Amino acid sequence: MKKIEGEILNNIDLGDGMFQLIISADEIAKRVKPGQFVNIKVQNSLYPFIRRPYSVWNVEDDVIEFLIKVLGSGSKLLYERKRGKIDLIGPLGRPFLDPPSDLEIILIGGGTGIAPLMFYAKYYSLSSFKIIYGLKTAPNEYLYSRIQEITDNVLISTEDGSFGFKGLVTDLVKELIKDKYIILEKSMFIICGPLPMLRAFKFLPPERTYVSMEGTMACGFGICMGCAVKSKSSNNYLRTCTEGPLFKLSEIEI
Ligand SMILES: Cc1cc2nc3c(=O)[nH]c(=O)nc-3n(C[C@H](O)[C@H](O)[C@H](O)COP(=O)(O)OP(=O)(O)OC[C@H]3O[C@@H](n4cnc5c(N)ncnc54)[C@H](O)[C@@H]3O)c2cc1C
Ligand code: FES
Repeated sequence: MKKIEGEILNNIDLGDGMFQLIISADEIAKRVKPGQFVNIKVQNSLYPFIRRPYSVWNVEDDVIEFLIKVLGSGSKLLYERKRGKIDLIGPLGRPFLDPPSDLEIILIGGGTGIAPLMFYAKYYSLSSFKIIYGLKTAPNEYLYSRIQEITDNVLISTEDGSFGFKGLVTDLVKELIKDKYIILEKSMFIICGPLPMLRAFKFLPPERTYVSMEGTMACGFGICMGCAVKSKSSNNYLRTCTEGPLFKLSEIEI
């Protein structure tokens, strides 16, 4: 497990508590695959002691980008860091599965959960896929344009109805299935977002639905069991940081 020193190149406010963190870190940029994450030391001091995990949103040459939501003390400190060296460990976790050729891939994101899904679609130059994106309120123009650079096949739901479908992303997906825009039998689903949102997608076929978990973590590389999720098939626990973060919905209890 190697620590890597990155250099913050920019840190841009995207509104609604989200920001784009741009870091030069060629050792990670060269190796990272979609779905993997980086454990970031949010500031160069002992506090906070525990690193914070963030999925890679995009890679350009030796630069990696993150899409981050301010939630608590760690992300707030990160938001305030505009330039300078930053201590990283990564890439960590197992990459998302290779895209199957016989199924349409439906990528469903909630909030910053869109980040690894955009990296996945871009990395594999997916041909047959759709993005369904749920937010509380209308997306920032820049964020929306970044999604559109990847595909026009994007549908958005907002809880306040300020953009796209009014309601929860689960309701939008149910509508799209009813309208045959999504053909359940011919689709594979990859979902990333807050845990209550992942739970609400249990109506999708569990054998063809994958969820990327964004729960609490500590070490990030398999030692502490701080990220364990219960396996359905045995009495064991699976570690989000090493066996995940992506799991088949039929494999875990959430
Ligand atoms: C593999 C992985 C990838 C991730 N990728 C991203 C990403 O790309 N962008 C991003 O913004 N976040 C991502 N997260 C979540 C991110 O790690 C947490 O939001 C972050 O650690 C919170 O730290 P904090 O110090 O700001 O908040 P804390 O002080 O740790 O927590 C503040 C409050 O937020 C709650 N909270 C903490 N984490 C989460 C969470 N994941 N979901 C909902 N509530 C939470 C806590 O219970 C607490 O109430 C990812 C998590 C994992 C495990
Ligand atoms: S975070 Fe320590 S085992 Fe996963």
